[in-house]
Amino acid sequence: MAALSGDPGAARSAVHHALSSIFITIYGYSVCNFINGLAVSIWAATLVPVLLGQWALRCIVAEQVSSRPTEMRPKLAFAGELSVFVAGGAVIGIVNTVFHGFPAGSGLKAMLGFVTIGIFAGVDQAFVQTRIRFEEGGMPSFSGKPRSPFAVRLGLSFSLVAALIIGVITLLVLRGIEDGTVNNAEGFRRLAIEFAFVFAIISCYVANSARGAEKLLAKAVSEQVQTLGDAREGRARRRARIGTQDEIGFVSAEINYLLDELDRAHDMTTRTNDAIMKALIGLAGARDNETGEHLQRTQRYVGSLCSQLAQHPEYSAVLTPSAIADIVSAAPLHDIGKVAVSDAILHKPGRLTPEEYEVMKTHVGHGLAVIDKVIADVGVTPYLAVARDVIAGHHEHWNGAGYPFGLKGPDIPLAGRVMALADVYDALRSERIYKPAMPHAEARKILIDGAGTQFDPQVVAAFLMVEPQFERIATKFADSGQDRAATAA
Ligand SMILES: [Fe+2]
Ligand SMILES: [Fe+2]
Repeated sequence: MAALSGDPGAARSAVHHALSSIFITIYGYSVCNFINGLAVSIWAATLVPVLLGQWALRCIVAEQVSSRPTEMRPKLAFAGELSVFVAGGAVIGIVNTVFHGFPAGSGLKAMLGFVTIGIFAGVDQAFVQTRIRFEEGGMPSFSGKPRSPFAVRLGLSFSLVAALIIGVITLLVLRGIEDGTVNNAEGFRRLAIEFAFVFAIISCYVANSARGAEKLLAKAVSEQVQTLGDAREGRARRRARIGTQDEIGFVSAEINYLLDELDRAHDMTTRTNDAIMKALIGLAGARDNETGEHLQRTQRYVGSLCSQLAQHPEYSAVLTPSAIADIVSAAPLHDIGKVAVSDAILHKPGRLTPEEYEVMKTHVGHGLAVIDKVIADVGVTPYLAVARDVIAGHHEHWNGAGYPFGLKGPDIPLAGRVMALADVYDALRSERIYKPAMPHAEARKILIDGAGTQFDPQVVAAFLMVEPQFERIATKFADSGQDRAATAA
């Protein structure tokens, strides 16, 4: 039983062994004149020990197979199962010839029957081992060209089945000619029934093998479909498990290779984008009176708000993890257009006059001109689209009173609405030369009062859900003394 419980193919193999003895007995008694002449007890005394010996040998072979690497097991399982049936057939043939005095030709026929069943039982065991190989994660790699091509295996299978059917017809007809039964209608009828019996058994075995092949094919194709589906959805981490060294395994390996390449190219693009964006932000920051910590804090506020909004059914489909990552990454670009604003206004140590404020407001247009130039050159990407939304929308007001477009409500891109709240909260909480830093409670009140006028009420609601995170971020990334001095200067 221990061998059975640790051997996944044992149950199916047991069925093949049992059926083989039944079929050979029925066939032997109806077709073979020699077996026909034996008492049932003598036939049983011959067959049962052979079957038991076959099963014992099969258990040893199965243990050997399971001790080998998974990639070798299907072929070994096939060869092992076939060998066991060949051995059983040989013993039956020898016993029949030596002890029962049958002619050698009869022994060869018994052998042919065992080999036939052994081939189908071996194929069945190979399928079991291949399925296990899939479940255990597939083959570690696929090297070179496809081995055991599908077309060749299909051709061999058809040839084998055709040879079997032709062989059986030949044997039956030869026997009919030999004993003269084909010359009368009754003999011919018996011949047809015998042939139908053998044909039905072979058909069942073929159907079983076809079903096994179909399951494997479905498994391999479903691996490919799921892997490609995940990649299409932007989750390119999955790889197709490879179960066979044929064309299907080769296609899976190619899909995996291309996805690896895609990952590498994507990583490279992301790193290049990040580096260029960091350089741009650094350039803008060098001229701006905002501190580096302002950019870090607003980036984190944006991240908290987006993660909270993603819980909302209205935004869950839009705010996917990769969309949130893009918004967070693009957040520091919101004031990039300030590079085009004169130093006198940008670095004015005090409040701006209304005229100066009008000039300052042009930073959104300048920022958009920069990002639109990039989009015109390389085409729009999700990241660039979000960067544009952040720049365009961070000074718009929910009631339409903002700038530069005076957009209203949901017409303001979501990333812009989120950025607007994060930017204002941080400005309120930060010290300026003309104002002290505001405590959280006061800033909170201003945001709540602005819900529905300056800010998107749903973004304010999200803020109220993640307030403790805002307080933690404000404390952890507070402006350093050096930055404050620089700002004051
Ligand atoms: Fe701004
Ligand atoms: Fe800002």
